[in-house]
Amino acid sequence: MKERMKIAVLASGRGSNFMALAGACREEGYPAEIALLISDNTEAGALVFARETGIESVVIDCGPKRGSMSLESSEEMYRLCRKRRIELVCLAGFMRIVKGRLLEEYAGRMLNIHPALLPSFKGLHGQKQALDYGVRYSGCTVHFVDTEIDTGPILIQKVVPVMEDDSEDSLSERILAEEHKAYPEAVRLYAAGRLRIEGRRVLTSDE
Ligand code: GAR
Repeated sequence: MKERMKIAVLASGRGSNFMALAGACREEGYPAEIALLISDNTEAGALVFARETGIESVVIDCGPKRGSMSLESSEEMYRLCRKRRIELVCLAGFMRIVKGRLLEEYAGRMLNIHPALLPSFKGLHGQKQALDYGVRYSGCTVHFVDTEIDTGPILIQKVVPVMEDDSEDSLSERILAEEHKAYPEAVRLYAAGRLRIEGRRVLTSDE
């Protein structure tokens, strides 16, 4: 049997994208497995799910600065990932900007999911930004992580309509349902070796 690609998920909160990925990994023939969950938050729901489902989890203190991570924590994450032969790092609601060793060593091997159609509405609260701007469609984006925020080459986007009576919560919920499809699809393509990056474009080859 072909060995499945080992992935690490980084999550700060609820962890529904982590759960969606874990669900996909349980499907027969899925080319990846989650070998490690890393969180910067001892209260993260993702940790509870990891413990319940037997996925190894680690909490790493990323430092007091909100949205940022210390270089030491980046080094530690890299060390953990290397030791477990992690080939892909997936940010799933990880609320810190990744920098340092982890980012350098996993360049081109790190994905993020964002709750808007990039390049619109980067950064925090992508759903609220879309609502406030008045767009008719928003959605989610899975992209490679580079040195800027939410700017890396785009793998998958899914579109959702914005309804006139939407609140931030209702729009977020509709987008989240698509996130849970988009991330497993993106990881499947990556782990199956079906992606090629040409400049800014991510090209997909047939199975
Ligand atoms: C998701 O909507 C994800 O797209 C977003 O945080 C949420 C995490 O939910 N990420 C960002 O906003 C990153 N800038 P989850 O913990 O249930 O997966």
